[in-house]
Amino acid sequence: MSGSPNSIFLRTLAGAVIRPPPVWLMRQAGRYLPEYRTLRAQQNESQQNESRQNDGVANDGFISFCRSESATTQAALQPLRRFCQLDAAIVFSDILVIAEALGLRVSFGVGGPVLDKPLDDRAIEKLLEDRVSLEPHRYDFVARACQGLVQGLQENHFLVPTIGFAGAPWTLACYLLQGRAEKNFPRACAFVRRAPDLADAFLALLAREAADLLAAQRTGGAEVFQLFDSWSGLLHGKENTRFSLTPAKTVFRLLREGEARATKSSETRFSTPLIFHARGAGVAWQEVVRQFSGLDVALSPDASVDLAALVGQLETLERDPALTRKIVVQGNLDPQFFLPSRDGSEMCQVLQAKAQAMRGRPWVVNLGSGIPPDAAPERVAEFLSAVKEIQA
Ligand code: CP3
Repeated sequence: MSGSPNSIFLRTLAGAVIRPPPVWLMRQAGRYLPEYRTLRAQQNESQQNESRQNDGVANDGFISFCRSESATTQAALQPLRRFCQLDAAIVFSDILVIAEALGLRVSFGVGGPVLDKPLDDRAIEKLLEDRVSLEPHRYDFVARACQGLVQGLQENHFLVPTIGFAGAPWTLACYLLQGRAEKNFPRACAFVRRAPDLADAFLALLAREAADLLAAQRTGGAEVFQLFDSWSGLLHGKENTRFSLTPAKTVFRLLREGEARATKSSETRFSTPLIFHARGAGVAWQEVVRQFSGLDVALSPDASVDLAALVGQLETLERDPALTRKIVVQGNLDPQFFLPSRDGSEMCQVLQAKAQAMRGRPWVVNLGSGIPPDAAPERVAEFLSAVKEIQA
């Protein structure tokens, strides 16, 4: 690898600490930014005009926003323009573009995503039968969003890598089976217990979709990949391994296989960092590390996955240097500190304590969950300045 800022970043993430710790923030582009809300309203208006002209039906804005290369490029650049300290750009998209690609209708309200029709067993069986006939170019628009972003970064002299992402199969299944974000996703949990074999097949289908989506992002120029298993913590023990970890591992395996085919090289050391974000107390981190550090064994016997784990129990890892020798830890700060009602200095104190605990070990500064829509952008700015002091 050369010494370009990107490769330095990638090596940092892979554990060779060069300018630690890098920082990006989960949902750094989004509704807490007034410029995002303006862009979203503008885009909505022009789309509504267009669809009224075409078929008289007003469309639901967010997925159309994700389909517009110019809108996604601008949205992803907004946080970089506002806060010059960010070390990565995140392609602007959503985990539920997969729902749409599977022919399901999803809308996005104030409370989050809502599916017109949650899946039942029959609908899942039908999806499994139909997958062969899925449109082969269904994720091309996400590849274009990445291309637009990579070009936008170059034009604006932002020398940072682009992070692509997808939802992990279990988290996608939670939304597709429940139909909306609901505490504990009871329909999804009941489904895996009632029909475990059908669940395995369904999760394997979602794993292939997630891998296809990430492959499109790689084609578009994404250099780091993050898999969000936001609801991993709803499953425990063997259920967690079977229905959350194993299908997530399949996504990374398929991605690595695609990478090997794309480079057609006999070189076995892959440098694309993979980030597994599994939120929640259900995850046994020893098990995650055990499962994931073997991931590319078939391809690369002596190398472990460049895995950064965002951890519900980061503290467990902080106390266990043996684990953090194998993986890079990412996270795990509470974005609620960004709310205007909170004392902003609290977050900086927590940051300093984490930095102290992680000293000498690879760590990516990030949050435990996304920036909430009512966060104060000024708080985010203060926090990023505090990170820069640690980096200095
Ligand atoms: O900079 C970035 O990180 C933005 C890209 C991004 C979005 N969604 C845009 C978005 C990312 C990385 C996501 C991931 C995502 N989406 C996850 C995994 C991370 C997590 O939060 O656990 C999940 C579970 C979703 C599903 C989803 N989509 C939710 C819960 C919501 C509501 C979010 C909100 O702001 O309240 C969405 C819609 C969505 N995705 C928005 C954005 C900016 C808001 C849509 C709008 O403009 O109305």
